[in-house]
Amino acid sequence: MSKRILTCTLNGRRHDGVVPGNILLLDYLREKLLMTGTKTGCDGGECGLCTVLIDGAPILSCLTLACSVEGKSVETIESLEQGGRLAAIQEGFHVKLGSQCGYCTPGYIMAAEGLLRRKREPSVDEIKDALGSNICRCTGYVKIIEAVQYAAGKIRDERPARAA
Ligand code: FES
Ligand code: FES
Repeated sequence: MSKRILTCTLNGRRHDGVVPGNILLLDYLREKLLMTGTKTGCDGGECGLCTVLIDGAPILSCLTLACSVEGKSVETIESLEQGGRLAAIQEGFHVKLGSQCGYCTPGYIMAAEGLLRRKREPSVDEIKDALGSNICRCTGYVKIIEAVQYAAGKIRDERPARAA
């Protein structure tokens, strides 16, 4: 399989790599870059464990060729904590006990982060819709929804909407 030069932004920094044309973004992140925060589960678009943000929108990295992110911004779970400070959505999962075994959590967090960038005050239905591609075997989902609501509230508190 031929190789390609890949230039993208990875977690806020320019990234240059050489990738086989057929390598999945999930495998590139985990196996070549050793960024194992992004989890692997079904490898077939069914579980959401592998969710990352591409240009700010959640995508399943198990269904995405690494070479297809050329020129784009890729964000993984490793990008969210800044200087020892958790992102609001990470804090939400911690405070609301949105994780149990934690294996699904990075995928949920990235899917929720994508939603929170689009919606300051998502409804429960909007949260369920945004997280509909993700599966958790432990939590029963209620705590996960509460975690997203907590994060949305924290973001609104920290960044009040400008008056019209
Ligand atoms: S590993 Fe990608 S959706 Fe399951
Ligand atoms: S917390 Fe265990 S699978 Fe979700």
